[in-house]
Amino acid sequence: MTDTTRSSSDIFNNEDSNTTANPHIDHIMTARLNRRGLLLGGMGAAATSLFGAGALTGCATASTGAGTVAAMGAPLSTLGFAAVGKSLADKVVVPAGYNVQVIYALGDPLKASTAAFKNDGTDTDWDNRAGDHHDGMEYFGLDASGKPSANSTTRALLAINHEATTDDKLSSFFIHANGGTATLPRPASEVDKEFAIHGLSVVEVAAQNGQWAYKAASNYNRRVTAMTEVLISGPAKGSEHLVTKFSPDATRARGTLNNCGTGKTPWGTFVSGEENWFGYFHRDAKDDERRGKKDKQVAGLVRYGRPAGAASRHGWESAGADDKYVRWNNGALAANAKADYRNEMNTFGFVVEMDAYDASQPVRKRTGLGRFAHESVSFAKPVVGQPIVAYMGDDARNEYMYKYVSAAKWDAADANPSNRMAAGDKYLDKGTLFVASFKDDGTGTWIELSMNNPIVAANPDFEFKSDADVAIYTRLAADAVSATKMDRPEWGGINPRTGEFYMTLTNNSNRTVDGDASLDSANPRFYSDMKGSKENKGNVHGHIIRVAQGKPTDTAFKWDIYLFASEADADKSKVNLSNLTDENDMSAPDGLVFSDVTGLCWIQTDDGAYTDKTNCMMLAAIPGKVGDGSKKSLSYKRADGSEKRVDTYVGKAQSPDILKRFLVGPVDCEITGLCETPDGKAMFINIQHPGEGSKMADVNNPAKYTSQWPANAGYGAGKRPRSATIVITKKDGGVIGS
Ligand code: FEO
Ligand code: CA
Ligand code: CA
Ligand code: CA
Repeated sequence: MTDTTRSSSDIFNNEDSNTTANPHIDHIMTARLNRRGLLLGGMGAAATSLFGAGALTGCATASTGAGTVAAMGAPLSTLGFAAVGKSLADKVVVPAGYNVQVIYALGDPLKASTAAFKNDGTDTDWDNRAGDHHDGMEYFGLDASGKPSANSTTRALLAINHEATTDDKLSSFFIHANGGTATLPRPASEVDKEFAIHGLSVVEVAAQNGQWAYKAASNYNRRVTAMTEVLISGPAKGSEHLVTKFSPDATRARGTLNNCGTGKTPWGTFVSGEENWFGYFHRDAKDDERRGKKDKQVAGLVRYGRPAGAASRHGWESAGADDKYVRWNNGALAANAKADYRNEMNTFGFVVEMDAYDASQPVRKRTGLGRFAHESVSFAKPVVGQPIVAYMGDDARNEYMYKYVSAAKWDAADANPSNRMAAGDKYLDKGTLFVASFKDDGTGTWIELSMNNPIVAANPDFEFKSDADVAIYTRLAADAVSATKMDRPEWGGINPRTGEFYMTLTNNSNRTVDGDASLDSANPRFYSDMKGSKENKGNVHGHIIRVAQGKPTDTAFKWDIYLFASEADADKSKVNLSNLTDENDMSAPDGLVFSDVTGLCWIQTDDGAYTDKTNCMMLAAIPGKVGDGSKKSLSYKRADGSEKRVDTYVGKAQSPDILKRFLVGPVDCEITGLCETPDGKAMFINIQHPGEGSKMADVNNPAKYTSQWPANAGYGAGKRPRSATIVITKKDGGVIGS
């Protein structure tokens, strides 16, 4: 969403702490290399391997374990449904011939002993209920006897992120009877509920005669919340920067927060990215002074969005003297880090891994994948004898795109391992992180972020002492190598047929023609868009970039812009560069998932710029490939009046034949999360924060809610809006999209 149009809970999606100048990579690298006479590891070999090996083709399948990929048939070559129109209705709209069912909403009980949800703010036992703001989601099949099965199409576990809460003035007001407390200190009873509505769900679902429902009494059901004990794993385990009063040896932490995008590992576990956690921490105005200017943590805290004096989103730190509240105060308040929570924020910002099938295994923070505002994790198709490769983005304005390459080589036996979390230890705890640099000739480089890279190891601006430091202060390492500042990287996805990697860049209100975040080839648009009488500027609607490599492990790549999001009537020479029409125009692409079954690329929006004309939506696309379009030169005027030309590479022009709107959600929601049965006949989607523009003062006045979904769709008690999982099926029993 554009920051100027965001409602309360979105403000924290829009952090911009990247004040680095980051001139073009070529200049700074050359300058630094010349100055130090050093060679940059990995880059020399990169150029020679560009597309030498040929792209991935075909799809071999293994089909027994929980972590294997479903068999792929021929991809769909046509979209077999009529496009859904833009909609402002307070309901989920899908094409003719499709069914929608709500199956799992905020507050739904996860134990037989938990009371039905009243949805009036008096509900209790929140540790055993669905959390709020359903986001990324993955499907883990179960066979008839309840054992893991990659092939099951009628029974499964859904692992779901609960990103945040619908809030107004500190309080998650819809879960409190009278809206809760809008001032500090917050009551402990309210804060305890707010801890519980964050985190993850595992919930069993099953279909009978084509009707899906969740099973409230399943022994698999469970929650991970902001209070659940987790393990720190990977290079940052034991780091001085993760020492807390709770875990003086820096091996454990509590909770996961703001879980946004997801991923499914090749060994059958769930991974989830912690995104806007920084907003939950309080730092008083004197904390810089107390720590002393030499404390590099001050630079780290600022780069991660917590300058001294930063107020927390919910005021959890104010709820009492109990350790569970005090931990949200990120100040250096005691004699040392073992006696306070000055490092607590450093225990967030990671990818967490969970075994959806096995509650006895603690969740791990996989620090080797870096620390930033994580979204999804996209695993390249594993190749026996080759490292595991995963792509990730840092969702804040002008942040970066990342790739992780494991040290361990893929063993096919790990597709169905006896201990899935041990496989996670093997592939995710030792590896190398890279950050993307996009060049204006349509190529790019993944730059290594480790102590092996002399530019990181000898960085004059922030002293990296170890790979643990790189794992914790990843943004600062990426700054040092002058990675390309992107327009808010959100979800990634891998086209299963080509191996090409796609990433949504949702929008950027801080993109400018000139200056620190000036236009470049990979982020080439600056324009104005009106929402009613309000003007938004920058890259208001976002775009989707894609990357092709010879092999996933290559450091050199080619790229183009698959799609420029736009309103249909915008200028086709400057803004609507992908030729979008009323059937497929969109703003703020966010979720992006490829179907293994159909090959379709599903695109979901989280928008605030086009919501005067339509609620958020999901579209289906038949993707092309990198280089299927053409070069385009855009012309801008600098502040001094001179011309700035930006060359970019636009994918093939869109048309409703290959890109079509499939779904529009209720008012004030985001469409997110997507997983499907292995036959592609049932698709699970999350409707996040319907009615989030409602006000705390109106909490008991349903007529004033901006949405009453899903109550108005016949689901559940009360009228307060609820985030929820829906399932979409085709009335003729066919494959979704066909
Ligand atoms: Fe949670 Fe960047 O969306
Ligand atoms: Ca507009
Ligand atoms: Ca997102
Ligand atoms: Ca979002």
